[in-house]
Amino acid sequence: MKKLGVAVIGTGFWGRNHARVFKELEETELLAVCDIDAERAKSVAKQFGVKPYTNTGKLLKREDIEAVSVCTWSTSLAREALKALEAGKHVLVEKPMAANVKQAEKLLKTAKRERLHLTVGFLMRFIPGLQHIRKAVENKTIGEIVCATSKRVSQWPERIGDVGVVKDTAIHDIDIMRYLFNEEPVAVYAKTGNMRHKKFEDYAQIMLTFESEKSAFIESNWLTPYKTRILIVTGSAAIMKLDYITQELTVEDAKETVQPRYPWQEPLKLELKHFANCVMKKEKPLITGMDGLKALQIAEAALKSSATGKVVKLK
Ligand SMILES: NC(=O)c1ccc[n+]([C@@H]2O[C@H](COP(=O)([O-])OP(=O)(O)OC[C@H]3O[C@@H](n4cnc5c(N)ncnc54)[C@H](O)[C@@H]3O)[C@@H](O)[C@H]2O)c1
Repeated sequence: MKKLGVAVIGTGFWGRNHARVFKELEETELLAVCDIDAERAKSVAKQFGVKPYTNTGKLLKREDIEAVSVCTWSTSLAREALKALEAGKHVLVEKPMAANVKQAEKLLKTAKRERLHLTVGFLMRFIPGLQHIRKAVENKTIGEIVCATSKRVSQWPERIGDVGVVKDTAIHDIDIMRYLFNEEPVAVYAKTGNMRHKKFEDYAQIMLTFESEKSAFIESNWLTPYKTRILIVTGSAAIMKLDYITQELTVEDAKETVQPRYPWQEPLKLELKHFANCVMKKEKPLITGMDGLKALQIAEAALKSSATGKVVKLK
């Protein structure tokens, strides 16, 4: 089987995992890694037996590299993703995709022009329990969806200094709410603030409203001393609860509580396998560049709502 030649740009905490998974997958061949930190690039390259680069110039000229993961700091994601697209590479760019909506729009335009696959690292979508809930919403075994609540809280990972908790963390849930409700929110109201972080918000409560009175609540912070990542979806016929960490799913209705069991699977592995199949087998992408752009628009609207104290209507 032909493998997809890939490289990882940015090999810090998360990019290292991309490199490992690309190495493990039978669909991909990891050919290079790149980090502006030369020591880091060298050590990750050595671990996986590939070539290190400290800038993308030469790496992107390699014809055997057809696709890249961009895992740099959030504020340099768009710049690196753009260079890769302009060099003709398919791109998986990590969330939040770009520092702002304008940069994200440019990525979409470039991918379209160059006819390249562009996707965003919203890996929560791949968790089997989340897929179960999404199907239950679609085929209405949950009844009519009424609201969804998510909680994604933990201590501040201090290496993250260039964006706040909304664009770094809550953006996962913003994406999930759009995906679950299968429609765009019409308005957002949010309260954010900072207690430990000097420059950016480190807590956020975000309410999204959809048509027909449906709503979603997102609680996100870098203040809670332990890590919680949960989703509760209330439908007229059942309530479904997913723990993103253990991947345990609980379904309750008027008669019973059941726990449909899915074997735990590494979301990043599912995501990168799908990325390779989208490029090589033209599999229908679960996440598009447009999903990244929409999530970023909502994140920016949430920040605006908090700054102005007003509900922000979304177009
Ligand atoms: N999808 C997820 O669940 C998930 C999880 C963790 C991190 N992330 C995302 O991954 C990205 C990286 O996060 P992290 O925690 O690994 O951060 P990190 O600081 O540990 O790593 C970032 C690395 O990128 C390198 N870098 C910065 N600019 C570069 C450039 N222009 N070219 C090459 N290398 C560059 C840095 O030297 C550093 O080694 C962030 O955008 C973050 O939001 C996503």
